Amino acid sequence: MAGQAVQRSGATGEKKLGVGVIGIGWVAGEHIKAYQQNPHCEVVALASSSRENAQAAAQRHGLPGARLYADWRELLRDPGVDVVSICSMNHLHAQQGIAAAEAGKHVLVEKPVAMSVEDLRTLRRAIEQAGVKSQGGFELHWSPYFQSVHSMIDAGFFGDLHYAECDYFSGNWEQWYAGYDWVKTKEKGGTALAAAGCHAIDAIRQFIRSEAVEVFAYAGNFTGVMEWDPTIVTLIRFANGAIGKVGCALEGNVKYTFNVRLHGSKGTLVNNRFRTTFLDPGLEGWAEFPTILPDTPEVTHHPFPGEIDDLVKAIRADGQALLDIREDAKTYEIMFAAEQSAREGRPVKLPL
Ligand SMILES: NC(=O)c1ccc[n+]([C@@H]2O[C@H](COP(=O)([O-])OP(=O)(O)OC[C@H]3O[C@@H](n4cnc5c(N)ncnc54)[C@H](O)[C@@H]3O)[C@@H](O)[C@H]2O)c1
Repeated sequence: MAGQAVQRSGATGEKKLGVGVIGIGWVAGEHIKAYQQNPHCEVVALASSSRENAQAAAQRHGLPGARLYADWRELLRDPGVDVVSICSMNHLHAQQGIAAAEAGKHVLVEKPVAMSVEDLRTLRRAIEQAGVKSQGGFELHWSPYFQSVHSMIDAGFFGDLHYAECDYFSGNWEQWYAGYDWVKTKEKGGTALAAAGCHAIDAIRQFIRSEAVEVFAYAGNFTGVMEWDPTIVTLIRFANGAIGKVGCALEGNVKYTFNVRLHGSKGTLVNNRFRTTFLDPGLEGWAEFPTILPDTPEVTHHPFPGEIDDLVKAIRADGQALLDIREDAKTYEIMFAAEQSAREGRPVKLPL
């Protein structure tokens, strides 16, 4: 059923995948640009509750022929749409992702893919039953920095990792984020991890390369800028014995900072500095590697093309995207367990 629609021909005569984008705000522009850079895709439809908003985006991105829908369900009925990017507000993601899969569309769901365990399971079931390809919205994985760290882990720079920390710190949302009015609410934004911290959970899970077996978290709301607790610290025990900490602070005067610390039997990484006996057993000092650190929330800086190219490759080769729902769900299980732990004041075992 998936990807049946026959599309426009490219220069080589190849049929291009028709792309539809739902929710035309800040991040949607970067998804559109990334699809436009991929030679196998053509953005053919945009859905926004405001037609003027969709029209302005079509003009801005040079898409005069794009079909514009005020109702996202109509976009899902468009036979020319093969792939859907869901870039709407957090509380709509699961519902729209489920409907997209049921309509036979491949789907990229922005984070958070769901705001409850039940919705996560329903989304996963819908994607699996439809046999469509999926990708979660953790594009940082394709950043040059993350790729460098993965290469260092692969090469054995740190030996066996036994402790890791990843942090997502970013304050003053009320001053800079255009979506602040919806994201601050429990109904539409959800929680600190749903709004942002899930990026750091996904990072620690991917660097440790093991699944979480137990989680404990404390959370607090110290400034009242959000309805939900903007600060949460999560401790994780992994199946391979490693332990880790994810810090998430979205209030106060904090500059956006995404920290990565990895400690292993042969070395340590602190953001872009490392110490290792792998290169030289006698080496005592720190070495620094040139990279682009993930040090801004600005979406124009984020590596969406890598994430989208990976999904398109999976669709064309009938393979699995890196953050396919089965993989992505493991990160969200940690997120939901952390939120449950903070609410109940006790450790929570995984899988849920
Ligand atoms: N992966 C990432 O790095 C990343 C970065 C930014 C945002 N996101 C995710 O993308 C999604 C969209 O975020 P964004 O920053 O683009 O948000 P945004 O507010 O710019 O846009 C979201 C959409 O909601 C619409 N909208 C906003 N307020 C509305 C209202 N009151 N009523 C009806 N519609 C409304 C907007 O027109 C737009 O279509 C979020 O789920 C966010 O978590 C991910």
